[in-house]
Amino acid sequence: MGSTGWLPGVSAISYGGDYNPEQWPEETWAEDIELMRQAGVNLVSIGIFSWALIEPRRGEYDFGWMDRLFELLHSAGIRISLGTPTASPPAWFFHEHPEARVVSRDGATLGFGSRGMASPSSAAYREASTSIARVLAKRYGSHPALAVWHVHNEYGAPVAECYSPASAAAFRGWLRERYESLDELNSAWGTAFWGQRYHEWEHVSVPAVSASVVNPAQRLDFARYSSDALLQCFVAERDAIRAECPNVPITTNFMAGTCPSVDLWKWVDEVDIVANDHYLIAEDPRNQVGLALSADLTRSIAQGKPWMLMEHSTSGVNWQPRNVAKRSGELARNSFSHLGRGADAVMFFQWRASRSGAEKFHSAMLPHAGTSSRVWSEVRSLGQGLRGLDEVLGSEVRAEVAILWDWESFWAQDLEWRPSEDLSHRERINAYYDRLWRDQLTVDFAHPEADLSAYKLVVAPASYLLTQKAADNLRRFVEGGGTLVVSYFSAIVDEHDAVHAGGFVAPLRDVLGLTVEEFLPLRAGEKVALTLDGIVGDVWTDDIALAGAEVVAAFEDGPAAGKPAITRNQLGDGSAWYVSTRLDADQLSVVLDGAYADAGLKRGDGPEDLELVRRHGAGADYLIAINHGTKPADLAAGGTDLLSGEQGESLKVEAGGVRLVRLNGPAV
Ligand code: GAL
Repeated sequence: MGSTGWLPGVSAISYGGDYNPEQWPEETWAEDIELMRQAGVNLVSIGIFSWALIEPRRGEYDFGWMDRLFELLHSAGIRISLGTPTASPPAWFFHEHPEARVVSRDGATLGFGSRGMASPSSAAYREASTSIARVLAKRYGSHPALAVWHVHNEYGAPVAECYSPASAAAFRGWLRERYESLDELNSAWGTAFWGQRYHEWEHVSVPAVSASVVNPAQRLDFARYSSDALLQCFVAERDAIRAECPNVPITTNFMAGTCPSVDLWKWVDEVDIVANDHYLIAEDPRNQVGLALSADLTRSIAQGKPWMLMEHSTSGVNWQPRNVAKRSGELARNSFSHLGRGADAVMFFQWRASRSGAEKFHSAMLPHAGTSSRVWSEVRSLGQGLRGLDEVLGSEVRAEVAILWDWESFWAQDLEWRPSEDLSHRERINAYYDRLWRDQLTVDFAHPEADLSAYKLVVAPASYLLTQKAADNLRRFVEGGGTLVVSYFSAIVDEHDAVHAGGFVAPLRDVLGLTVEEFLPLRAGEKVALTLDGIVGDVWTDDIALAGAEVVAAFEDGPAAGKPAITRNQLGDGSAWYVSTRLDADQLSVVLDGAYADAGLKRGDGPEDLELVRRHGAGADYLIAINHGTKPADLAAGGTDLLSGEQGESLKVEAGGVRLVRLNGPAV
């Protein structure tokens, strides 16, 4: 991340949302501002989809309405997150540059009338998007209301890949840089298979739909290239802005944990502040766990620094199969979970519900029902609650557990023709994360090649692609005293999706003390019993040959009957566990309790649905307690609840309630 720190001049938790006043007559704006004041809004994102209004024809600008908006917000003391409108170029742009449209994998050219339709590799798009960013920076870069730049909107959504001729040319350029010679490329892609050897660079292209499965190494590189191409678009806009406006931080709204196509480990060095959007899976009755995962992942991408929750929803969204509304108190529980996990800004999509367009059924801070509604009163009371939290700003979250997270591995695993369609990296990550969440252990996410020395326990639920460098990193971690838990179908391939020389798990063989000789996936619905009371796996088993590990549990039946199911290997000062079948979050305790003991970790002893996180400040520590259960819960820590002002040695958290407690005693 850049060095500009937090939003300049902001010393309170930021609160607000996307504000699209261009959808309303200007008479409404005064009411908006008055209601924002009532709700405690102090930051709004504007201009995200306003290109067609700001530049109605190429090179012709109309800033009148935006100038007036800037002044109105400024006079009300509301800061501005200024969007560059480049996620939605105007109709004139596509009319002039039909070649800039996205081409999908099956060859369809995407039409106008939506958003996200421009190819990241189009030179015309690059030129037009950097130009509008520069013009905006010139006009508003020194305005005192400007707090942060919000470049584009959600890179990678709705489309992350483009298969146009311009993309094919850019992909070739990217490959030439990566491999330098065709021989290297042929070897990395294994083109001896199915007669694909290339003799001319011009013949190398994008992995469009073909007769059968397309070369997986080519597809993996195309996923890398596509993420990089989007990143280049961001960097180009950022640099155009920075040249005019060097002192205001520049960010873009990520979708950590929900958009699989962008490798955010690479993006973090390019943004000044990390910002994230998160929407609940509405139908999941325990969707607070997925929310916590996304927030922890965002904080990890932000290298532990405070981050902005740029968007979430006050109630239902409009784009899921069933847009279940949030129930009373859920808006606050969600917001404080993000805040507890490091967010110093709590923002929504959007301020006022749209009457027209594709998102008219999406909730908003000010819903169609207006100020008499439940949602509005919860929005106001959240704003009031946040007002008393200035001292929390900048405090940090610490974790002793890390889950490995690598987009490249996920891209590779998601390709076709895997040993079982029931293998899902995300399902495994969710299950392990859920277990840790219920055990009230705070989790970071880490790239497998990152420094892991701060952690006592590292969990690898889905490390299908694991480089030799990452394996060496894990070995060092274990030898140095760490505890490692590895799930099945890990360390199978290298960075080119080629099976490791030496076979499955080869780079981790000495760490795990075993080898996997053959995959033994299970039939749909088939279950296998383990030699531990009541523990049953499904989806997967391995034929394991031990090479030093001890057997914690074996399979009682199924194709691997009599063979190891869960193992533990001592290496140096640490230990490494291997789990060769799918256990659900309940059953994972049999593995993780053992790993906690090895790691010297203690799981929380509160009720399972009491979410507890700590933030550590310069002068005090804060405990954020969110009760997702139906019974009140007592906190085992004394302090002052900054939301209610109550003090006590053991504060009660009502069912559905939230506490943010400044703990008694000095900061640790
Ligand atoms: C986000 C997007 C917003 C809005 C929102 C609706 O992904 O950035 O513009 O569409 O979804 O949930």
